[in-house]
Amino acid sequence: MRSQYCGAINESHIDQEVTLCGWVHRRRDHGGVIFLDLRDRDGIAQIVVDPDTAEAFKLADSVRSEYVISVKGRVRARPEGATNPEMPSGMVEVLGKELKILSHSQTPPFPLDEYSEVGEDVRLRYRYMDLRRPEMLNKLRVRSRVTSYIRNFMDGEGFLDVETPILTRATPEGARDYLVPSRTHEGCFFALPQSPQLFKQLLMMSGFDRYYQIAKCFRDEDLRADRQPEFTQVDIEASFLDENDIMSITEKMVRNMFKDLLSVELPDFPRIAFSEAMRKYGSDKPDLRIPLELVDVDDLLKDVEFKVFSSPANDSRSRVAALRLPKGGELLSRKQIDDYTKFVGIYGAKGLAYIKVNDLSQGMEGLQSPILKFLPEEAVTRILDRVQAETGDLVFFGADKSTVVNESLGALRVKLGHDLELFESEWAPCWVVDFPMFEEDGEGGWTAIHHPFTAPACSVEELQSNPEAALSRAYDMVLNGTELGGGSIRIHDADMQASVLKILGIGEEEARDKFGFLLDALKFGCPPHGGLAFGLDRLVMLMTGAQSIREVIAFPKTQSAMCMLTQAPGEVDHKQLRELNIRLRKKETSGS
Ligand code: AMO
Ligand code: AMP
Repeated sequence: MRSQYCGAINESHIDQEVTLCGWVHRRRDHGGVIFLDLRDRDGIAQIVVDPDTAEAFKLADSVRSEYVISVKGRVRARPEGATNPEMPSGMVEVLGKELKILSHSQTPPFPLDEYSEVGEDVRLRYRYMDLRRPEMLNKLRVRSRVTSYIRNFMDGEGFLDVETPILTRATPEGARDYLVPSRTHEGCFFALPQSPQLFKQLLMMSGFDRYYQIAKCFRDEDLRADRQPEFTQVDIEASFLDENDIMSITEKMVRNMFKDLLSVELPDFPRIAFSEAMRKYGSDKPDLRIPLELVDVDDLLKDVEFKVFSSPANDSRSRVAALRLPKGGELLSRKQIDDYTKFVGIYGAKGLAYIKVNDLSQGMEGLQSPILKFLPEEAVTRILDRVQAETGDLVFFGADKSTVVNESLGALRVKLGHDLELFESEWAPCWVVDFPMFEEDGEGGWTAIHHPFTAPACSVEELQSNPEAALSRAYDMVLNGTELGGGSIRIHDADMQASVLKILGIGEEEARDKFGFLLDALKFGCPPHGGLAFGLDRLVMLMTGAQSIREVIAFPKTQSAMCMLTQAPGEVDHKQLRELNIRLRKKETSGS
């Protein structure tokens, strides 16, 4: 039907006859001559139809935006002044002789180049229109290149691509499950996998040695710009390798991919301990492009009268940290400081104390701050000394429970970085390592920071005697403040696995019920193994500079986890429910 893609014609085709097919991007009537911009997935070609070819002219006159047509004609050079060097086909045009309308289009729900004005809901409802925009197509093209690159790389490293089930039992990644009722087993449900974690471990026990899969995962959790209920992992597992081996293979993959697909040479991946990341950046996914750091000042404030500072300074679960913004005193207005105070409030901070260093050489006289009157000069001097304050700087303070200080000052650090364009590099990767095994679940128990199959970096005895202090053999890859992937060396010993489950408060019966198959498998010869999973959507988001992972997923869900296009989830009829032995509880009416 067609001789080439619209975007593919160029000066080498001059005087050739071509047939192009595509969508009418724009129609312009230039006093007797009609110009059509014809678009396909490769680009846009300019078609000229003049009244000499009466039939084609009549049809060209009748087409509207988004009609699908085919045009046969001769390629010629555009007249001087009408060329467009920005476009690959911009030096030529096609003099259309024969034109066929292959499909009509109603007026589109939004003009493609005015997408930003219609809101995301409309774009998602008419996603097939939105995807006609070259920008969207290009992002999905990058995604396709990325998956094909990953497959080649993994094949080259000897990894086998194995598919694991979608209809399965609950997998323990800590989110809520999506359940699927079983028709043949009354009252029973499948869970969609939160990840292929347990299956990939079983494959190691089967001796597959190296596994990977580009796998769909499902998690019913609160959504954000970098989270979808249904997303894709590049899931990897290998036997007889330690954490350094796995980190080095996966780092090589990302590094090579950035080089080959983006011509970007990523810098070294420093390894940062979880505790250091929290202390310096208030986050376990630090954005290292931003040269600001949190500095502890608790020890200098234990005895001051200002309770806002001294109470947390004397509490081991709290923290007082300073964040110096070089030249911040000159960069930020009072109003901006007030806005940042509101901003940290989102994260639970009760205020945002600050000291403005107008002139360091003048001591207290040279400082400006609402908290100076509460602080002795010595404490102030030592704080400024510790954060290496200079004239013109602004020093912020957070004082609260450590979690609140970390989240609020961590977020402030990133926000200042973006608002004031403080980035020192375009790409800043790192590994975060030495995570604790457990964190408190708020009810007197423990939850696994990674997942319950992650190996601790200590013995069973040490783990049992002091679970709080135990570190795990887990690692996260972070790029520009986004957690790209996470993994760990797994437990391959039944006793260790039993200890970890016990600390997590998972009794023997519950453990058997939930993952008895894995515990059994551990008894039949399990190699030491470990792995990692990348969030493919996040990887592509970063590689394309997209603002959200929805932009790199062809048919994503909204923030409220629904599909605008198909209106899923939807209600089902009674017959279907009866077959599944499900009766819906009456929707609660208001006031009842
Ligand atoms: P984890 O839960 O850290 O580990 O997930 C691995 C990576 O998957 C991505 N990711 C998501 N992407 C989009 N939307 C979501 N809702 C979402 N949740 C996670 C992140 C994350 O780093 N089984 C382990 C991996 C392992 O131990 O090998 C796991 O799933 O980029
Ligand atoms: P107040 O005494 O509450 O008026 O607070 C004095 C200053 O300390 C103000 O600048 C507040 O923004 C700041 N502040 C109050 N609580 C905190 C806190 N928990 N962390 C940091 N600064 C605070």
